Amino acid sequence: MIYEKLDEFGKCFLWGSASAAYQVEGAWNQDGKGESVWDIYTKKPGTTYKGTNGDVAVDHYNRYKEDVALMAEMGLKAYRFSIAWTRIYPNGRGEVNEEGLKFYENLIDELIKNNIKPIITLYHWDLPQYLQDLYGGWESREIIDDFNEYCITLFKRFGDKVKYWVTLNEQNVFITLGYLTALHPPGVKDHKRMLQANHIANLANAKVIESFRTYVPNGMIGPSFALGPVYPYSCNPEDVLSAENAEELNCNWWLDVYCRGTYPSFALKYYEKLGIAPVIEDGDLELLGRGKPDFIGINYYQTGTVAMNPLDGVGLSEEMNNTGKKGTSKENGIPGAYKNVKNPYLETTNWDWAIDSTGLRIGLRRLTSRYGLPILITENGLGEFDKLENDEVINDDYRIEYLKNHIIACKEAITDGVELLGYCTWSFTDLLSWLNGYQKRYGFVYVDRDENEEKDLKRIKKKSFYWYKDVINSNGENL
Ligand code: BG6
Repeated sequence: MIYEKLDEFGKCFLWGSASAAYQVEGAWNQDGKGESVWDIYTKKPGTTYKGTNGDVAVDHYNRYKEDVALMAEMGLKAYRFSIAWTRIYPNGRGEVNEEGLKFYENLIDELIKNNIKPIITLYHWDLPQYLQDLYGGWESREIIDDFNEYCITLFKRFGDKVKYWVTLNEQNVFITLGYLTALHPPGVKDHKRMLQANHIANLANAKVIESFRTYVPNGMIGPSFALGPVYPYSCNPEDVLSAENAEELNCNWWLDVYCRGTYPSFALKYYEKLGIAPVIEDGDLELLGRGKPDFIGINYYQTGTVAMNPLDGVGLSEEMNNTGKKGTSKENGIPGAYKNVKNPYLETTNWDWAIDSTGLRIGLRRLTSRYGLPILITENGLGEFDKLENDEVINDDYRIEYLKNHIIACKEAITDGVELLGYCTWSFTDLLSWLNGYQKRYGFVYVDRDENEEKDLKRIKKKSFYWYKDVINSNGENL
């Protein structure tokens, strides 16, 4: 629909920004923290861009007060951050590490003191290495109880201070890259194992939501899903059917389980025919049914466009553009289901991600129609090269343009009838991109470091900092 006038953002709209522990904290072995799978994986040659890791990252662990002061100066209403499981339980289970809890307590108190609502992500990929070694991490049902215990510890400690909680960040990404394309730890390429680990992650997600009801009865909880709405390349029915396949396999496969407690039937039958469907035990579906979220968290960066792909067509590619050299992504797909193609109507970033604010509106509407739940945008942003100019100026007009268009899409979606709780940009400060090093920057605040040198990690406000400050101050009117 095209409207003459758009609805306004609600008075309590959460204008936020987000980060993840491994990408900002550093202090990888400080104050009793245990090793996570990322602490180990990034040290293996050839896994990350120029061998970068999060040992120091942007040292948020030691500079959180300075970072929160910048958030307060901006007028941020919400800050989404993740808790590192290995700071709370260095081995993932057993003795709790009080120093780890204390760090997050201090951070939460600092945020609240500055009128910033904390949004806690319980798991942003940094699994305790000990549990990976002990029983294979997400491949064992033992993780369901360990994850639940860890979450209950946090619910008990912070449940009276924090209302918004995110369970698993991008299960679709960490499971697919961890078990199908081997780009994330544990570096496995096995579709059957991937679907089984994914089923166990679904159960863990449902279980902690169930626990949450007991410990934080007035809070709100949901997963963060990496949403990539799919378009058909053309109106050829073969392409349209391919887009249906991709939506079913890449979106509904996760979201139906979260929101309805069931696997979508076409995808399940497809995996059964291939002999790789997950093993569903007695009681699993009941647990999934009890673990419905209060909201759907979505991380939105881009749409996908797909075309028909024959049975002998192109398969998955493990290669991706993690250098920022535009046009170096490889074609990939699932033979017999779909293949990803370039959308001729859309520009891309230097990392070949399609820039598509209308796709955000389309995704928000599809989710609302299918599940009818409130939505929290837990990530949206532009990763680009930024240039630090003389007098400590960073003119990131391209980021302002990107965010502005996506915020307009949010407004349009609200006018359409989407219940949107808030919008968190990715990210507040620059941070480590898992596979792309430090040169792919997302923040409002530049951090002076790169792949080669930590430098002084000085925080410098970009042009977008002042722009978003005004957006928040005008409750989304001044764009
Ligand atoms: C999301 C993750 O996938 O996208 C973030 O939740 C990540 O942790 C962000 O950093 C951007 O991805 P990338 O690969 O550009 O860092």
